[in-house]
Amino acid sequence: MRLSVIGCGYLGAVHAAAMASIGHDVVGIDVDEAKVTALRSGSAPFFEPGLPELLSEGVASGRLSFTTDMAAASGSSVHFLAVGTPQTAGAHAADLTYVNSAVEQLLPHLRPGDIVAGKSTVPVGTAARLAELIEPTGATLVWNPEFLREGWAVEDTIDPDRLVVGTGDASSRGARSTTDVIQTMKDVYHTAVAKDTPFIVTDYATAELVKVAANAFLATKISFINAMAEIAEATGADVTQLADAIGYDGRIGRRFLGAGLGFGGGCLPKDIRAFTARAEELGRAESVAFLREIDAINLRRRDRAVDLVVNALDGVVFQKKVAVLGAAFKPHSDDIRDSPALDVAARLKGLGADVVVTDPQALENAARVHPQLTYEPSLDETLRDADVVVLVTEWDEYRRQLTPEHAGSLVAQRVVVDGRNSYDPVAWRAAGWTYYGMGRP
Ligand code: UDX
Repeated sequence: MRLSVIGCGYLGAVHAAAMASIGHDVVGIDVDEAKVTALRSGSAPFFEPGLPELLSEGVASGRLSFTTDMAAASGSSVHFLAVGTPQTAGAHAADLTYVNSAVEQLLPHLRPGDIVAGKSTVPVGTAARLAELIEPTGATLVWNPEFLREGWAVEDTIDPDRLVVGTGDASSRGARSTTDVIQTMKDVYHTAVAKDTPFIVTDYATAELVKVAANAFLATKISFINAMAEIAEATGADVTQLADAIGYDGRIGRRFLGAGLGFGGGCLPKDIRAFTARAEELGRAESVAFLREIDAINLRRRDRAVDLVVNALDGVVFQKKVAVLGAAFKPHSDDIRDSPALDVAARLKGLGADVVVTDPQALENAARVHPQLTYEPSLDETLRDADVVVLVTEWDEYRRQLTPEHAGSLVAQRVVVDGRNSYDPVAWRAAGWTYYGMGRP
């Protein structure tokens, strides 16, 4: 099939490359000239494992191309909308500028029978509004949310847990029946469909809500365990053992019960805020009022980490060398959007510490946003003469490969704040370290 993907960020670039890899002819369209130039030459404009290989294969095969010209969408059977929906500056609602302008620019290129498949995370009600603009062209809008995790985006796109397609009211539609449209979407995802991946056909509102509900649930799970970490801190309990013990209950499950610095990134924080804003518009603010608490618990973990570092330095932070391990919002990503790691680093810098940040992938992005921090690609140099080591992003380099003995041979003082509860306190203490975890004694 010929497909177009509008918006080539973390979501769209991966979607375009993944669709080409399963045999489709794909054109990726983005307004950012530099991004398009990089993608065209087969190189990924951001770090995502497996993506460079897919891009170069796709471009070399001739099945994958990139352009800034929306006219290239003409002739595609399905047009995926994969533009960003960031948090509005100064408010909690999602900013739909990019979605609106992508649709407006796409309209002249739509033919009767085309499908527009929305993948961007949008406030419930958006699809119904966009359908009114799209359907007069004879094209059909479906809402097909994306659940990919950065770092596993290629795998999640080609082999998702589930596929969700929301459709509108058939009576208002032009050229095609719902059955026909759904069949086309199944043809797009033919490899996942052949593996019997659950394929949920629903209405627009449900499809839009599936995405925000899933992210709200994940955020709630993380903040739940971080709330338990706060109680553990007040009582001397160990939140990691608590998570293991409750996680054995199949109804609860251990995944996403990692207590620590909490969640960040381009999705969970802005999605729960946008959900709260949308619920207010719908007159249902109380239904998701708990999400404000989820957000607050999450942000308090950053305060806690800063406090732990200040305490570890006996209250004197000024000109102390703080080695910050991690800048990305999570490992296997160079994404620093709402990164708890960088937030903690910047606050410590603000208190007068001599902060040195290392990260295997995110230093360039971090330096753009926080030029006041010192960045060091070498882990050893970051650790050298440090007064305190702060683990904030649990990359394998810091979590598994770094031993307390090696780190101890470099630092000025053997003091570690483990913001991700990634280290074994027994091993670090045995090597002469003072160890502080998040919700651990
Ligand atoms: C998330 C959803 O997982 C994905 O389905 C959706 O499509 C987009 O949002 P992503 O933002 O890539 O994906 O990151 P994810 O792996 O979910 O982690 C989110 C944040 O939660 C990270 O900051 C991570 O460090 C934190 N986290 C995760 C915890 O603090 N504890 C955990 O146990 C798990």
